[in-house]
Amino acid sequence: MPRKKSLRDVDVRGRRVLVRVDFNVPIDDQGNIVDDIRIRASLPTIEYLLDSRARIILMSHLGRPKGRDEKYSLAPVAKRLSRFIEREVKMAPDCVGEEVRDMVESLGEGEVLLLENLRFHEGETKGDENFAKELASYGEVYVSDAFGTCHRKHASVYVVPRFLKPAVMGFLLEKEINYFERAMINPQRPVVAVLGGAKVSTKLGIIKNLLKRVDKLFIGGAMAFTFIRAMGYSVGSSLVEEELIDTALDILDIAKKLEVKLYLPVDFVIGQEISDSTPTKVVPWQEIPTGWKGLDIGPVSVELLKEVISDAQTIVWNGPMGVFELDRFKSGTFETAKLIAQSSALTIAGGGDTDHAIHKAGVYNAIDFVSTGGGAFLELLEGNSLPCLEVLDDKE
Ligand code: 3PG
Repeated sequence: MPRKKSLRDVDVRGRRVLVRVDFNVPIDDQGNIVDDIRIRASLPTIEYLLDSRARIILMSHLGRPKGRDEKYSLAPVAKRLSRFIEREVKMAPDCVGEEVRDMVESLGEGEVLLLENLRFHEGETKGDENFAKELASYGEVYVSDAFGTCHRKHASVYVVPRFLKPAVMGFLLEKEINYFERAMINPQRPVVAVLGGAKVSTKLGIIKNLLKRVDKLFIGGAMAFTFIRAMGYSVGSSLVEEELIDTALDILDIAKKLEVKLYLPVDFVIGQEISDSTPTKVVPWQEIPTGWKGLDIGPVSVELLKEVISDAQTIVWNGPMGVFELDRFKSGTFETAKLIAQSSALTIAGGGDTDHAIHKAGVYNAIDFVSTGGGAFLELLEGNSLPCLEVLDDKE
């Protein structure tokens, strides 16, 4: 991955610093923030800037509004952040325009201004140069700390750093990249990847990339059924992507050639429908009856996973093992989270659902690093570069 300058490499004392954060947090109908991990994850950068008496201009998107929509205002985020940093966070009425410029210009040392949702303007997602230039004009230094948005070529993450230099990584972005490199680029071996999720089609690129990098790969979740079908077994009414059966066979073949041990679950919790009221049974992998579908991995599979990761020095986890949102089918995913949390290996996890499952399993603090990225983390797992990283200043 390209070596980039970080916040520590530039002088920010007293300067206007434009920071792109990812405050895209879930907010309920009453305007309450349901999960503030992303706000807390940005604190090291913000606190460093406060200590440096910088004039801090924060910008972020929230949700996917089409034009201005108060439901997607960042005002609740300003309040929560203000509580964390124990000082006022001024809330701008918009992210561009005269009033915002005046607020930026009157910002004193050690003061914080949060711009309103960037996606209230279509210039953000379109990567519009004029919109980007206006944002860029607010700062003297650009800090990119929105790891979760780094896979987007949007104005604030991808275009602004072309117009505002120096452009450097914030501490969250730096931490995300460092952990990813320790787990996937220069890992301590053996490396075990635990991959779940419903569809092979959405994880194909990831599986192919992981096979080049890991020693063992455990594939759980409904994805496993396409592999089991490909091996010629019946899977009852479980989810199978028929069009990917040949691809699944190719993957099994590649794993053999690369001497990567690929494991599939050996038992499943099955039900007749995806509901908490459906009757359930635990059956071996090749005995799912017609009319029943596998909705979670079973206890013997959890034992197998325990064995698989027992000698791991590095574990990377993405994707649930079953329908963990339902009580009847949550056990496999939660047990997986616990096993990974108990391991002495370097453990990293990420990708939307995985983060949610780790929280629900109550082991968030026992995993070495849980990425704040959904799509961005998956891009890295797939071996792709992050556009927003490429546009930052190179380290000499
Ligand atoms: C995320 O939550 O993955 C990021 O904030 C990016 O959001 P987006 O998928 O709406 O671009």
